[in-house]
Amino acid sequence: MEDLKRNDSILEINDLSVVYKTDLETVEAVNDISLKIEKGKTCGLVGETGAGKTTTALSILRLLPENTGRVLSGEIKFNGNNLLKLTEDEMRNIRGNYISMVFQDPMSALNPVYTVGEQIGEAIKLHNSDLSKEEVEKHVDEMLNLVGIVPSRKVEYPHQFSGGMKQRVVIAIALCCEPSLLIADEPTTALDVTIQAQVLAMIAELRERLGTSMLMITHDLGIVAKICDNVCIMYAGKIVEAGTVEDIFREGKHHPYTKGLFGSIPNLKTKSKRLKPIAGLMPDPTDLPKGCEFAPRCERCEEICQTVKPEIYVNGTHKIYCHLYKKSRNAAYDREE
Ligand SMILES: Nc1ncnc2c1ncn2[C@@H]1O[C@H](COP(=O)(O)OP(=O)(O)O)[C@@H](O)[C@H]1O
Ligand SMILES: [Mg+2]
Repeated sequence: MEDLKRNDSILEINDLSVVYKTDLETVEAVNDISLKIEKGKTCGLVGETGAGKTTTALSILRLLPENTGRVLSGEIKFNGNNLLKLTEDEMRNIRGNYISMVFQDPMSALNPVYTVGEQIGEAIKLHNSDLSKEEVEKHVDEMLNLVGIVPSRKVEYPHQFSGGMKQRVVIAIALCCEPSLLIADEPTTALDVTIQAQVLAMIAELRERLGTSMLMITHDLGIVAKICDNVCIMYAGKIVEAGTVEDIFREGKHHPYTKGLFGSIPNLKTKSKRLKPIAGLMPDPTDLPKGCEFAPRCERCEEICQTVKPEIYVNGTHKIYCHLYKKSRNAAYDREE
């Protein structure tokens, strides 16, 4: 049974909870989330700022801030092995060879005093220490070609590159180790709209060509529709709705938060559409509501929502964390939708 699982999912997070703890307060950043990414598939993680998306990504790589970030419970299985149980050395091997991450701001990932070629070369050498100088150079050229940059520009420094090109370089570096999982944390948010589209098209193409599995963290529903197979909608540290991209974009039952985000659920062909602001603020993560985390902002909020955590409603691949769809009450709401 365990072997079967190993074959289909590259990443499986079960019941993960993460806090940031200081002397003064405890921020409950990720609360009991589960998600699964199948080999070769792209999972979108969507939600407003502060939802816990980056914390989830940093937990996978075990890069939470050392003094404050702490995983309270859960497991993060990569190819069947719980990353939370590995030694620091084993984890370094995972980060260097199997899982790469691209952050929102390309400049924070590049060193201003080395040329672009030197930085890609370093990443290649880390992975293949026995390559000759010529072989490394050849590989640098290949990586630049892969992300659509003319190799002759490798002698330039990051500041000579536009934002979109810098992000391409960062992606090239992330791909040097031929990762089986690429985590992209809002990789296009800091870029101009036209450049965003180019970088995205490139990511989509790489995914086709290299078969890399991806966790794509984004605000942009257009990105989700275009490149994701599955989607998790995150709110106040919870995954409030999850399913295939069709489940999420189809008319019908949805979490009230998802409905709010989408305005109205756009169809899959809708052009890039930013998430809609919803009235009200995310709850204070140091003092989360007793019942449903979304209750204070929810138009459909009832008494039970304020006092009892919802159960997860499951319909095939589609999951919704909301009292609205509780089994015993389905009949009434089925009629409504
Ligand atoms: N280093 C940190 N120390 C304390 N709180 C943090 C830290 N990083 C993030 N948080 C808090 O954890 C919550 C989740 O943040 P984050 O994972 O960055 O969300 P997202 O990436 O979805 O915007 C937020 O309330 C944020 O303020
Ligand atoms: Mg973030």
